[in-house]
Order: sequence, then structure tokens, then C-alpha cells
Amino acid sequence: MKNLLVTGGCGFIGTNFIRYLLEESDFSGRIINVDKITYAGNPENLSDIAERFPERYRFVKADICDREKMARVFDEYEIDAICHFAAESHVDRSIVGPDAFIQTNVIGTFNLLELARERQPRIELFHHISTDEVFGSLGADGLFTEETPYRPNSPYAASKAASDHFVRAYHKTYGLPVTISNCSNNYGPYQFPEKLIPLMILNALEGKPLPVYGDGLNVRDWLYVRDHCVAIWEIMKRGRRGETYNIGGNGEKTNLEVVRMICDFVDEMVPPESGKSRRELITFVKDRPGHDRRYAIDFRKIQRELGWQPEESFETGLRKTIRWYLEHREWVDRVRSGEYLEWIRTHYGDE
Ligand code: NAD
Ligand code: TYD
Repeated sequence: MKNLLVTGGCGFIGTNFIRYLLEESDFSGRIINVDKITYAGNPENLSDIAERFPERYRFVKADICDREKMARVFDEYEIDAICHFAAESHVDRSIVGPDAFIQTNVIGTFNLLELARERQPRIELFHHISTDEVFGSLGADGLFTEETPYRPNSPYAASKAASDHFVRAYHKTYGLPVTISNCSNNYGPYQFPEKLIPLMILNALEGKPLPVYGDGLNVRDWLYVRDHCVAIWEIMKRGRRGETYNIGGNGEKTNLEVVRMICDFVDEMVPPESGKSRRELITFVKDRPGHDRRYAIDFRKIQRELGWQPEESFETGLRKTIRWYLEHREWVDRVRSGEYLEWIRTHYGDE
């Protein structure tokens, strides 16, 4: 893998992955990061990387739905491997406006698969990043395995499920070397503050209400983002082609438990001026439609085959994450204001 195309590298997980590859891993090639820069992407996340690794990191502003532009990227940079993160990723947005999810997650993935198929045998690997949400919802017991049937419940999950099926089909039909990973909920640095954990950290710091959907007893299996990045790289290097790997955190928590832990840690790190615990900010709000009750991952396959397991516990990962948001208030202000989107338009044009 000399010239690795990373799509969506200016988003939350993509940023952490590029940092991990260049700063910590044994990857020795070059990364071409293609991102459209939606509200969720910020190239400033990697501006220090661009300076420190001028030969090994390139950013190209492009939409994966633009097949001609993507064809030029594949050829100009002699792409031989792909790690595909780019997606619309927020369930609540998919409920309000599913179109962009179909465009990017389904059509965009299809475009990349076609470009890879046309360039065989040059393409060594197409790794597709997916989610455990494709499996639908669990009851009180059980875990999602790689054999669990797909039952997506939100437009987001349905669009990811569709893209997973296409990736699998391109392996079966055309022999494209692919791997797929289905991961549980991530948290950590650079996550856009519309998702549960960063939203609650920032609202707690700012003394705003902490909106918990429904009864707050929905369960997610939380994984620290660096652990996800390590897993992806192990799969890319040594995962069996054509296979799917589930990645999880051993981190099952109800939303209420998560929010209470955030309140307690924030109280500890920044004692509230009022003297009142931030738990008092918790506000129960109307439930999300089609809200999946519980996600939990059986990750024994990746553990057995590749020796991967999460390093971070939820408590240690959450403390690191809160500290990161405390130390990066400027980043928060920038992504909330969308200021950098204007900067991007002036530097890279509008298309
Ligand atoms: P994110 O929303 O933070 O980032 C997505 C990135 O993709 C952004 O930089 C955005 O600008 C870019 N993008 C969107 N549409 C594009 C397009 N048409 N062309 C090019 N770039 C485009 O998302 P994330 O949380 O980093 O998730 C990354 C991937 O991981 C997604 O595929 C998501 O489904 C998957 N995933 C996320 C989680 C999670 O908990 N966040 C868990 C499992 C899987
Ligand atoms: P989210 O971070 O949106 O991830 P996903 O929907 O992909 O799992 O939400 C995580 C959980 O937190 C989910 O059960 C919905 C819930 N949630 C709230 O209770 N309040 C909120 O403000 C948000 C954003 C999410």
C-alpha cells in the first residue's frame, strides 16, 4: 500500500486514523485524503500533519459522488489502496433529511467501487468502514456477531447497510480485494459536537440542559476512537480479504450512565461555580423515532484472528476525551461557527 486513498479524512474518525497512521503505525506510504468538507469535516484538524509530513500527506477537496474528479485522483496519485470513511454519519439528521445519506453513503460508495474495479489489479485493498447499526436493535441479551442478519432501522443505518452489501458484492462478483469493519459507537478527540458525548461535555461545561432522549436506558457499546483506528489498520494489513470484522469496546452503558459519568468527571475537573452538581442539568426529552434500544458487539473474531482488543476502558477514555475538549475550546468554537467553511471556499473554491 504505497498510495492510500483515505476518504472523509477530515471528519472525526478519519482525522484520528490519519494521525495514527502517520504518527504511530508502521505504515510507510503516502496518504491522499479526499474530503468534500461538509459541516462535519474540518481540514484544520490536520494542518500540522500537512506541515510535518509534506511528502506523505495530501489533501484534495472533492466529493466522492463526483466520479470524474475521483477518477483523476485515482490516476494522478496512483492509488493502490482505499480506506473509505466518507459518509453522512448522524442518525438524527438522517431522520430529518435522508437524501444526502443516499447520495454519499450509497452512490458515493458505489462510485468508488466502480473506480476500483476499473483499475484492477492495481488495487490491493478496498477497506470499507461501517457500523453496528446495520444489525438493528438487540433486546436485553445477546451480542451482534458477523453472522447477525442485517435489519437497519434508521435511514442512516439503511444507507450504510446498502453500501456494505455493494462492497461484499464487488468481492464476490468481480474479485475486488475488500474488507469490511462494523464498529460500535466511537468517542474521543475531534468528534463533532452533535453526537452524544461531545454534546453533553460541552453543554455540561456551559451550564446548558443535557437532553436525554426517552427514558435514557438505551444502551451503546462505546469504543475509544484510537482503539478503532488500531483495529482498522490491523484488518487492512492482515485481515482476510472478503471478510467482515466486528469491532467493539466491551463498553456497554446506558445513555443515562454515560451522561452521569460526564457530569461527575466535569464536576471534578471544573468544579461548578454554583456548587450544584451538573447532574441537575439532565433533562428528559422526546424520544428519537425508531430509536434502537441496545447495541453490543461480539469482537471475538478480530481478537482471535488478529489479536486485537481495546486498550482503553470507558472511564480512562472518557477522562481523556473531556480533557481534550477542555484544552481545545478554539476548535469547538471554529466547528460550531462553521467559520472554516468560508476559509475553505476561498482556498479551494465551491465545487
Ligand atoms: P463524520 O461525520 O465526523 O465525518 C465524515 C467525513 O466525511 C467528513 O469529513 C465529511 O466532510 C466527509 N464527507 C461527507 N460526505 C462526503 C462526500 N460526499 N465526499 C467526500 N467526503 C464527504 O463521521 P465519523 O464519525 O468520522 O464516521 C466516519 C465513518 O465511520 C462513517 O462511514 C461512519 O458511518 C463510520 N462509523 C462511525 C461511528 C461513530 O461512532 N462515529 C461508528 C461506526 C462507524
Ligand atoms: P449518537 O451519538 O447520535 O449516536 P447513535 O445514534 O449513532 O448511536 O447517540 C448515542 C445515543 O445517545 C443514542 O441512543 C441517542 C442518544 N442521544 C441522546 O439521548 N441525546 C442527544 O442529544 C443525542 C445526540 C443522542
